[in-house]
Amino acid sequence: MVYSHIQDVLLGKFKEGETVNLRGWVYLTRDLGNLYFLVLRDATGLLQTVIRKSNTEPELLEKIKQISQETAVSLNGKIKKDERAPGGYEIEINNLNILGLSRDYPLSKKSHGVEFLLNHRHLWLRSPRQRDILKIRESVTWYAREFFRREGFTEVHPPMLTPSMVEGGATLFELKYFDRNAYLTQSSQLYLEALIFSLEKVWCLAPSFRAEKSRTRRHLTEYWHLEAEEAFYSNEDNMKLQEKLVSYICKKVAEKNREELETFQVRPERLLKIKPPFKRMKYQEAIDKLQRKGFDVKYGDDFGADEEEALTKDMETPLFITNYPLEIKAFYMKEDPNNPGTALCADLLLPEGYGEVIGGSERETNYEVLVKRIEETGQPIENYKWYLDLRKYGSVQHSGFGLGLERLIMWLLKLSHIREAVPFPRTPSRIYP
Ligand code: 4AD
Ligand code: MG
Repeated sequence: MVYSHIQDVLLGKFKEGETVNLRGWVYLTRDLGNLYFLVLRDATGLLQTVIRKSNTEPELLEKIKQISQETAVSLNGKIKKDERAPGGYEIEINNLNILGLSRDYPLSKKSHGVEFLLNHRHLWLRSPRQRDILKIRESVTWYAREFFRREGFTEVHPPMLTPSMVEGGATLFELKYFDRNAYLTQSSQLYLEALIFSLEKVWCLAPSFRAEKSRTRRHLTEYWHLEAEEAFYSNEDNMKLQEKLVSYICKKVAEKNREELETFQVRPERLLKIKPPFKRMKYQEAIDKLQRKGFDVKYGDDFGADEEEALTKDMETPLFITNYPLEIKAFYMKEDPNNPGTALCADLLLPEGYGEVIGGSERETNYEVLVKRIEETGQPIENYKWYLDLRKYGSVQHSGFGLGLERLIMWLLKLSHIREAVPFPRTPSRIYP
């Protein structure tokens, strides 16, 4: 048996009157006396099917009685153009088989509270809206991969179990690793730094883990981290690469995912506006601006969601904030020789108040400086011996960055919370399902 997909029908690949075989899940049913409507759902869309009871075999009518939301079926029917049907096509069912029954499906079409939905995330993901998010998510990673390949990068696969921290002890997940302790990685950066000495330009897409105690709309404890590291790149080169990457993804998604974007009322023009160069602002300027807006911030404070929102809510394109004070950034960042006390770094903030999506910097290459910076973190220097080796054997200028995949998706689709941007969100209060 050859099966088609709903999208093939909706795209008009068949002639009126042709018969098709489809399979999927029952999205909804409607019994109007002689007419029985069944909306079928598969990975590609929704399609209305109909049975005229008066000229239908009793055997098929018996089957229909057993069908309810999310019953899995295969069916065979004739294609009809119908203006009134969503998508413009309808299938007149000749035959139908039940593949898997469904009883009392807990998610009805009425709205549910978010906790209820999250407890049923394994089922919620079947909804057309969640499917569209998953499709966009796949597109983003696909086009990122395409971008990096075109730019001469090699994709690499760093470990998730690590002996040491990268981004600060406060958000480390510690675990028992046989007779010692280990951590879930906060960032693959240090491993990417090792790999540039083999491949020069590398990138990875891997989970990062943060034991974030803060419960916000934009923090997960496990998120997907798209990281790149580039030999011979300055921080400026690094920023140019980021602009190009983000613009490329926006353009591709705007072109290729029009249908899914519509679900979220996102017009492609909003994404096509994202083009290099992005605006830039020094941390000091950002502080001044926030103070003028009445924020109680001073030089040396890190920005939270509120500050980032205030800085970007009136913008339509992303904003780089550069030159953060060294002491509020990670140990590996290089000091800016032209602006002592600040790092050669940039955070990329998304527009419309969404805030940080990328953290990046040029890396400290000097052995002694790096030893001192690691010592200041209070971490045992032995754990970083391998990392320090990279500064001993042919050290070169290099830079890199990390992009939070769910943060980008959240902004792309104007989601109000990050938890919808990942299939099975992990937050301090949630590890089920
Ligand atoms: O700014 P961060 O902490 O930078 C790093 O980890 C660097 N080592 C990256 C690098 O240079 N290779 O994290 C990078 C990005 C943030 O900008 C944010 O988008 C995302 O990761 N991120 C989170 N996303 C979701 N939930 C969390 N708890 C996140 N923490 C960071
Ligand atoms: Mg950051």
